[in-house]
Amino acid sequence: MLKISNLNAYYGDVQVLYDVNLEVNDKEIVTILGSNGAGKTTLMKTICGIETKRSGVIEFQGENLMKVPAHKLVTKGITLAPEGRHLFPELTVKENLLLGAYAFKDKRKINDTYDWVLTLFPRLKERLIQYAGTMSGGEQQMCAIGRVLMSNPKFLMMDEPSLGLAPNIVDTVFDVITKINKEKGITIVVVEQNANIALQTADRGYVLENGVIGMSGSAQSMLESADIQKLYLGL
Ligand SMILES: Nc1ncnc2c1ncn2[C@@H]1O[C@H](COP(=O)(O)OP(=O)(O)O)[C@@H](O)[C@H]1O
Ligand SMILES: [Mg+2]
Repeated sequence: MLKISNLNAYYGDVQVLYDVNLEVNDKEIVTILGSNGAGKTTLMKTICGIETKRSGVIEFQGENLMKVPAHKLVTKGITLAPEGRHLFPELTVKENLLLGAYAFKDKRKINDTYDWVLTLFPRLKERLIQYAGTMSGGEQQMCAIGRVLMSNPKFLMMDEPSLGLAPNIVDTVFDVITKINKEKGITIVVVEQNANIALQTADRGYVLENGVIGMSGSAQSMLESADIQKLYLGL
């Protein structure tokens, strides 16, 4: 579905990604692991054509994305849930969710997706008229994920969805990631520092270190790898 070849990315003259090669197949969950500053967020932004100067090839379902402007991606089914929640704190949960569908007109489809999002997150359903800024961190993360789902993505990228959340909420978020994938066949790339839960959820993984892809493989083989256990799983 997504094929990245020899991708380089720069902030000004400073290179941050070096010859990244990466593939994501239809309906897969792929995780990208790596320590702080490795370039994970830069990779997400660069795929979307945000902020960096880039060279290389990014193909999505056979189409070259290098010439597609960032604001066109959502209409192709590509959505990024960025690091942090980025909600509108003074809008309600319902208003925040509906904003996720801003680029679409099909009312019936929007309603169906809205109902589905509320079944994924019963907590949001109880809080539709609450201002987003007054909710807990976990609830805000659910709202942020709900909002990106409102755009009906085919290909969803999530940047550190577990960041700053209590362990039980992290479990909820990853359960939802599995459901999104299984129930709607949405292909997911999830960037994480929490390697353990990410590898338990994903089909395959890549490790990014200092802007270079190191190890990659099935999630199972990575969970069993001595290097991964030592460096990322704290075993
Ligand atoms: N807007 C920016 N301008 C310049 N350098 C940046 C910018 N954003 C990130 N960097 C640098 O790029 C490197 C990778 O950062 P980032 O992609 O945020 O890593 P990660 O998400 O893996 O923690 C870091 O050295 C960081 O300082
Ligand atoms: Mg990051």
